[in-house]
Amino acid sequence: MLYYLVIIFLYISLQINIMAEEIDFEREYSPSRWSIRFSTPGEVIKYHVEHVTSASLAATNNIPHELDIEYGPTLGQKLDILGTDLPKDAPIFVYIHGGFWQMLSRNISRYAAEPLHHAGIKTIVVGYDLCPTVGLQQIVSEVENAAKYVFQYAENMRSRGVYFAGHSAGAHLVAKILSNASLLANTPGSNRLKGAFLVSGVYSLQELLYTTVNDALNLTDELANTLSPYFDNFAHLKDKEIRINVIAGQHDTSRFKKQSKEFYELLHNKYSLPNVNLDIKDNYDHFDIVECFSNNNNYLKMLLIQDIEKYL
Ligand SMILES: *[C@@H]1O[C@H](CO)[C@@H](O)[C@H](O)[C@H]1NC(C)=O
Ligand SMILES: *[C@@H]1O[C@H](CO)[C@@H](O)[C@H](O)[C@H]1NC(C)=O
Ligand SMILES: *[C@@H]1O[C@H](CO)[C@@H](O)[C@H](O)[C@H]1NC(C)=O
Repeated sequence: MLYYLVIIFLYISLQINIMAEEIDFEREYSPSRWSIRFSTPGEVIKYHVEHVTSASLAATNNIPHELDIEYGPTLGQKLDILGTDLPKDAPIFVYIHGGFWQMLSRNISRYAAEPLHHAGIKTIVVGYDLCPTVGLQQIVSEVENAAKYVFQYAENMRSRGVYFAGHSAGAHLVAKILSNASLLANTPGSNRLKGAFLVSGVYSLQELLYTTVNDALNLTDELANTLSPYFDNFAHLKDKEIRINVIAGQHDTSRFKKQSKEFYELLHNKYSLPNVNLDIKDNYDHFDIVECFSNNNNYLKMLLIQDIEKYL
């Protein structure tokens, strides 16, 4: 009997070892390798940057705006407001770009603004310093500064409601804002926060230690834990009426999809937040899941309009 148990035990440990070794973390955290729209990862990235650059330029040309507003002391701490012609109390959509905290920028992340402007929604695009110029801890504190600025602005304008959205690494940063109980409790205007869109995000950073993403981040095991929203507390959101959409694409990497599912489960099951939704969208990959924000009709705009009509 014991003999059989030992054999079974050895067999199971062997399987677990094989499974662990078979996960190619580099591939799992290279979302461009999972898109089926182009034949090489390079083309996916090239198209993405060209698309968001031209759509951001068009938005900047077509919508009254105020750019390069400083929200903190360093070069990267600037934000843009698009839709300054809209009524003062217009709803505000805040967008934080991704790029694993080391690529992309505010000035090519304005692409959601034009369709939203048609719907009477202002867009605020948040910039931040990138790694390795600064550490990830500093980036988290920069976007906290940005959140304070936005809430104060929303308060001054008597905005009907504020929505935060982040893509990929930007979704991580939005999740860090949501987990910061004292920030949400002590900032005037933060009660105007009505919802969040976490698109193709990463919420547990541990596995990044085994990838080249970490070359610029230089995270230690301990920092990776501290900076993972997955290990933060979200209980304070329970008595707030904030709608949270956790979204990923069918052609996101399996790790990215797993991260979204587990983060949804954390909010929904562990913290019993009442208004959390998970959507793994058919036919989207890590990039067109936000590229589509520049189309006059897109899922984000629809969700925002529905929420505004229902609650604001
Ligand atoms: C956008 O910002 C980046 C980094 O701040 C800069 O390198 C780039 O030249 C800017 N692009 C445009 C079109 O202004
Ligand atoms: C929450 O935000 C405040 C204000 O920006 C900051 O001082 C504090 O360190 C943050 N707390 C955590 C746990 O990150
Ligand atoms: C990375 O972090 C380690 C330990 O925290 C530190 O000793 C090292 O100097 C850092 N490397 C870079 C390039 O910042």
